[in-house]
Amino acid sequence: MLVFVPSHPLVKHWLAVARNRLSPPPIFRSALAELGRVLIYEAAHDWLPTIDGQVETPCGIADCTFVDPTKPVKVVPILRAGLVLLEQATTVLPAAETYHVGYVRDESTLKAREYLNKLPASLDAEDRILITDPMLATGGTIAKVVDDLVQRGASPAFIRVVAVVAAPPALKLLSEKFPGLKVYAGMIDAELDERGYIVPGLGDAGDRAFG
Ligand code: PRP
Repeated sequence: MLVFVPSHPLVKHWLAVARNRLSPPPIFRSALAELGRVLIYEAAHDWLPTIDGQVETPCGIADCTFVDPTKPVKVVPILRAGLVLLEQATTVLPAAETYHVGYVRDESTLKAREYLNKLPASLDAEDRILITDPMLATGGTIAKVVDDLVQRGASPAFIRVVAVVAAPPALKLLSEKFPGLKVYAGMIDAELDERGYIVPGLGDAGDRAFG
């Protein structure tokens, strides 16, 4: 597994806004949406299937390359907070379909429990799948989602994860279980605290976004 942390001033800026405990929900959501836009843009590089064609301009014929509309990216936001990261995705991805999944982590056991699953019954090994979740902490949630996608036929080599902050336990788990998977994160944070929160992290992203 490879982790990419783009060295981009907009990533640094919106991460700082999201981290600030004084940022109220509208500002927090807007910072996450902007981070999502830049990280999805990075994740899409060398990954989106394209086709060649031509368009007629006002002055002639131009050879062009298009994102293949017959192979839309399957975007999988992990509710709740993954929805916010996804807000700008449609302006980055010309062809996308969204499949929601909902997980909540039990705060005493830190185990993730599924409460919503709108994934298709089967997936193709070459489907491009983009998972959005701002926080990869223990990695329990993201590992369950990737496991489910692989069970349905997806290949980790075509799956990309967009996160705001990722912690070492999650990255270790993903690299052991899913070689070939790529993670695009705003930052890799140092550790988890005794409650399983990422430190310094963002706090509880779902609560900060939705109250
Ligand atoms: C948070 C976060 C991840 C998960 C990370 O969601 O958005 O989905 O916890 O933890 P893990 O890596 O240890 O599994 P949460 O369960 O708080 O749900 P929410 O988005 O609805 O707040």
